[in-house]
Amino acid sequence: MKLENPTPINWKFSERAEQLQSSVIREILKVTMRPEVISFAGGLPSPETFPVERMKAAFDKVLSEQGKTALQYGPTDGYAPLREFIAASLSTADCKILPEQILMVSGSQQGLDLLGKVLVDEGSKILVETPSYLGALQAFSVYQPQFESVDTDEHGLIPASVAAKGEGARLMYALPNFQNPTGRTLSIERRMELVETCARMGIPLIEDNPYGDLCYSGEPLPKMLNMNPNGVIYMGSFSKVLTPGIRLGYVVGPVPLIRKLEQAKQAADLHTAQLTQMVVYEVIKDGFLGEHIPTIRTFYSRQCDVMLEAMTKFFPQGVTWTRPEGGMFIWVTLPKHIDSKLLLDEAIQHNIAFVPGGPFYANEAEKNTLRLSFVTVSPERINEGIEKLGKLIKAKM
Ligand SMILES: Cc1ncc(COP(=O)(O)O)c(C=O)c1O
Repeated sequence: MKLENPTPINWKFSERAEQLQSSVIREILKVTMRPEVISFAGGLPSPETFPVERMKAAFDKVLSEQGKTALQYGPTDGYAPLREFIAASLSTADCKILPEQILMVSGSQQGLDLLGKVLVDEGSKILVETPSYLGALQAFSVYQPQFESVDTDEHGLIPASVAAKGEGARLMYALPNFQNPTGRTLSIERRMELVETCARMGIPLIEDNPYGDLCYSGEPLPKMLNMNPNGVIYMGSFSKVLTPGIRLGYVVGPVPLIRKLEQAKQAADLHTAQLTQMVVYEVIKDGFLGEHIPTIRTFYSRQCDVMLEAMTKFFPQGVTWTRPEGGMFIWVTLPKHIDSKLLLDEAIQHNIAFVPGGPFYANEAEKNTLRLSFVTVSPERINEGIEKLGKLIKAKM
């Protein structure tokens, strides 16, 4: 039974939905699916790092031993043993994090959406770095805030700019480690100053840290969460240290906020899949990340070196770039007159892709910037791609 020629619906979207836009990166990724394209555009981790066998064994174990629990609905705040594990791993000598301060989410991207939902009203001032993570701008935009761009320099966010611009802000969103898109890292002094400034001004500080463990040398810098657990909302993710396909992240914060986020999450998806949480717990509970993460660090560090060397060789004078100490991205600044969006159109014709910098800016964009990711392309193709890109840039100098 089916209606004959039903009148087509004239979709009337909400005002909120009308102003939604597709992420530029997702659009570019469609082009880069073609195998001949050398893509520095993706923000994807390298699949070479996915512990497939380990995950397979854990799925098998969880389903064999606790299948009925794993396949049942679960609690909104998440699988308790995993929350306990995360709380312990985030605790320091003078800052204990409790499991009730943790909400498991379906990727930290969901955490951003939920934070927008519970903290942002239409017109609320929210502070973001210049530039910032595009996915966060996209998530917060749904709630129609007023973005205020905090100044940055080659060392990342400038805390004094928060003091100057932050009056009345509802939140500050910061990426202290190997920032997406610039690859920059915030010094301990600046972290302290930022935490103090936000605390003094009563601004909740979001510390988004999906790349923090991927430092190429030394140990990760202290978390802002541990400097002021009452004022910092921390976001972690398993996407870059295990696999993104399981969609598992967490938000850490003061209990009243976590309870409010939990209500918002109930409305969104009831809970994050119990099965994947149990599997991840099974994979990491005996210290697997301690062996696994160093292999990712070494791999990404080599890839990064290959790209930096190729850039030194093939990019013309007048182009500058960041030298990340971890993570997945290099940020390039071209001479002012070169628009990276137009450069991309040309580059795609030569089967090269990157992400133009514009969409990473909440307000006025620096159009002569672009982001390169070095983790999913082989060293040979990095060299080939950077050489071709260098030629295209040179032709515009
Ligand atoms: C800075 C930042 N935050 C959050 C996310 C979302 O990560 P997840 O896979 O945990 O949703 C990403 C993904 O690339 C990211 O770069």
